[in-house]
Amino acid sequence: MSTPKEIEILVRSKYPILYIVSWEERRIESALQTIATDLKRTLHVWTLTQGMKPSLLQTEGRSTLSPELEALAQIYQANEGTIFLLKDFHPYMKDPRVMRLLRDIAFKLRTRAQTLIILGPTLNLPSDLEKDITVVDFPLPDSDEIATVLDTAIAQIKDNPKVDTTLTPIDREAIIKSCQGLTLDEIESVFARSIVETKKFDQTVVLEEKQQIIRKSGILEYYPPINSMADVGGMKNIKEWLDQRSSSFTDKAKEFGIPAPKGVLLLGVQGCGKSLTAKAIAASWKLPMLKLDVGRIFGSLVGQSEENIRKAISTAESVAPCILWADELEKGFAGTSSAGDSGTTARVFATFLTWMQDKTAPVFLIATANDVSALPPELLRKGRFDEIFFIDLPELKEREQIFEIHLKKRHRDPKAFKLKIKPLAEKTDGFSGAEIETVVIASLQRAFHENRDLIQEDLVKEVEACVPLSVMMKEDMEALREWAHLRARPAS
Ligand SMILES: Nc1ncnc2c1ncn2[C@@H]1O[C@H](COP(=O)(O)OP(=O)(O)O)[C@@H](O)[C@H]1O
Ligand SMILES: [Mg+2]
Repeated sequence: MSTPKEIEILVRSKYPILYIVSWEERRIESALQTIATDLKRTLHVWTLTQGMKPSLLQTEGRSTLSPELEALAQIYQANEGTIFLLKDFHPYMKDPRVMRLLRDIAFKLRTRAQTLIILGPTLNLPSDLEKDITVVDFPLPDSDEIATVLDTAIAQIKDNPKVDTTLTPIDREAIIKSCQGLTLDEIESVFARSIVETKKFDQTVVLEEKQQIIRKSGILEYYPPINSMADVGGMKNIKEWLDQRSSSFTDKAKEFGIPAPKGVLLLGVQGCGKSLTAKAIAASWKLPMLKLDVGRIFGSLVGQSEENIRKAISTAESVAPCILWADELEKGFAGTSSAGDSGTTARVFATFLTWMQDKTAPVFLIATANDVSALPPELLRKGRFDEIFFIDLPELKEREQIFEIHLKKRHRDPKAFKLKIKPLAEKTDGFSGAEIETVVIASLQRAFHENRDLIQEDLVKEVEACVPLSVMMKEDMEALREWAHLRARPAS
């Protein structure tokens, strides 16, 4: 059911107070106007600067009440057949007098053809009001609405000979898809910008705009697909697993009855390619990737952290199908049981878990973690992730692959440069992928400094000079391995 329809039903069934969570004032006001007209009611809109429009005051006298209380007083005394939309009102909701009046209004309106609607970009509902107010999420425009905006934009400029308004069905589909996650105003602006910049409707302009918007949210970061699975050495099992699911996000798979995969948890030793694998998955599945900064979720204000996670989730869902990447998850969710933050971490975590369990939007979650002891056990329960992989230090064959990958990446094909990989791999037992990469880079630096090209000797020397982390943190690593052995699937 569409949200306007849902709101209409709530209004008709005399739900007294609704709280709509959205940034889109214009779009919501127009949806409410339509509902009001259909139900033969009048819509009154209140803003802090303009007051109530149309006004309900019999005489234009100066009121002694503050504006927000004045608005509520007007609503309390108003006749039936009305809908009130309050913008700018959410900051006042914590005032005890406002709370009292809202509860009185809720009681009175329950039996009347009168509805109060509060509109705000964030949800901060005092618990006193939870039972009196119904929260409605107003999702961003869906593909049908975006198509309408596009058609309107095309119609407006189709007579302009300088602009190319022709779109192949594929281009049209692509543009509509890339507009998902933007507000109506943003979509209109980005179309206008595209016309000015490129004289046509251009998907890349839309994607640029979208990155900008995601960046502004402050919690999510857009990652363009860069690495590919070929950049990852070893991890046979992970690669197989991903391969089997590579077309799970297509319409065809959906028709076939396959649910979109939920996500994976990559556990393991630092520097062994967890983050790299996450990026490679996004690239090989050709999905946009949003990185969730787990640390930044926890805002300083009460209620802000919960709001942040809700917003991050809904942004990700609006971009779907996509990958949501929660890197080093344990850093954010550590201490979910501690009482220090009056349960905020625990609540945020619960929101996240519920979402993981119930989500239907094709958002594939990739979580990584270095330290399992900090992860709450609920996270590892069945049904949250499709699979939990443990990425261990690379074995001999895998180290050969990793050496090869990093040498080739720096234009030193081992064969052409007469570099023998096998002895290097044998000498690097206990090295992580990141350490092997460091060896390659340091060797190149050594050669460059001595004004010649890379030789075997450089690599051997750098290997000998390196003390891998696995030696320095032997105990920690053993413990991790033992833990993972029982609970996770090996990556290779
Ligand atoms: N299996 C691997 N294959 C190729 N390169 C690797 C591998 N593991 C690590 N690396 C190199 O080390 C770098 C750091 O690894 P990263 O993915 O950040 O490790 P983690 O997230 O597990 O700590 C990568 O960018 C990559 O260059
Ligand atoms: Mg990492």
